[in-house]
Amino acid sequence: MMTKLKLGVLGSGKGSNFVSIQESILKGDLSAEIKVVMSDHSEAGILERARGYGLPAIALPKSQFKTKLEPEIEMEMVRCLKEHQVDWVILAGYMRVVKKPLLEAYPHRILNIHPSLLPAFKGLEAWKQALAAGVTEAGCTVHLVNEGVDEGEILGQQSVPVEIGDTAESLHARIQKAEHLLFPEILVKLSKNNLRINS
Ligand code: GAR
Repeated sequence: MMTKLKLGVLGSGKGSNFVSIQESILKGDLSAEIKVVMSDHSEAGILERARGYGLPAIALPKSQFKTKLEPEIEMEMVRCLKEHQVDWVILAGYMRVVKKPLLEAYPHRILNIHPSLLPAFKGLEAWKQALAAGVTEAGCTVHLVNEGVDEGEILGQQSVPVEIGDTAESLHARIQKAEHLLFPEILVKLSKNNLRINS
């Protein structure tokens, strides 16, 4: 049985993962609709790109914090997701820790992409951590979001090699190529009910 996923996408940056998901929908590979795109930064590229596709693109009120949102701003985010009838929340380069208002409104319904092979290299700029550690394999992970940081149940991973002479930029670019395949692939599985997720 196929479900048409109703997605709300949150991102803080340029939005290349959002684009890969939207393109997969437009090609007919993924049965989903992006109902709204939201960012914690009014200038974020992801909002511009969402507008380019004619999708609702909303900037959240400015936060005083760097790593989380005030509860009232997260509640406003939830209100907006519900207003747009979102069933699944997609963190596509969203750089804040998700707190109770969102976790409780969407239990087991929030997916994140992280640029490492979790549980290795949680946190910021995971590709730099991988380079510093001298590993020969890096990659990306799509996982469910819980109250921990980069800790929820892993839904899929893709590895990429670390090559001799890699810089932070070249490694992140290789990981991002893998991300752009992995995230839509996991969402296709979700829409086909091929992922075991608690409800
Ligand atoms: C991606 O590499 C994503 O894995 C990472 O931010 C980038 C966003 O790129 N997310 C995290 O580090 C979350 N902990 P994008 O804006 O081009 O999609």
